Amino acid sequence: MALLPILRYPDPRLNKKAAKVDVVDAGIRKLAADMAETMYAAPGVGLAATQVDVHKRVIVIDVSEDKNELQVFINPEILSREGECEAEEGCLSVPGIYDLVTRAAKVRVRALGLDGEPFELEAEDLLAVCVQHEIDHLEGKVFVEYLSRLKQARIKAKLAKQARITA
Ligand code: NI
Repeated sequence: MALLPILRYPDPRLNKKAAKVDVVDAGIRKLAADMAETMYAAPGVGLAATQVDVHKRVIVIDVSEDKNELQVFINPEILSREGECEAEEGCLSVPGIYDLVTRAAKVRVRALGLDGEPFELEAEDLLAVCVQHEIDHLEGKVFVEYLSRLKQARIKAKLAKQARITA
């Protein structure tokens, strides 16, 4: 396994739309394993392939307290949405920035697992938020793009400053 570098907002590669995975093969399983390792090391609760500059529809999520419930979604699709919730979100591509985003409170998701078999899942609370956040990444959307233009400009300035300090 390997740690993968994570793209940082506003890198334009974060706005690329990811392509569907045709076959769940060893390459995809290796990608998912590397993404999981990268997510746990960061640490974070979710990571989309887009964030590691691989534009394929793969996401990894672990919202468990003990970090031992890895969920891999290949070609994830939201089948239905219910209700509304507002939660504070962060993102490994936007370090140190947290803000409120409104999303569906409950979603039904269909995806392929690492075995290539389809499964469906009902997600709520943090998992629902996380699934929606990560699928957005596959569509080329970062959560800060839900915020006002003024806030986005402030976030860009703050991240540019951080980059200069850590460079
Ligand atoms: Ni994110």
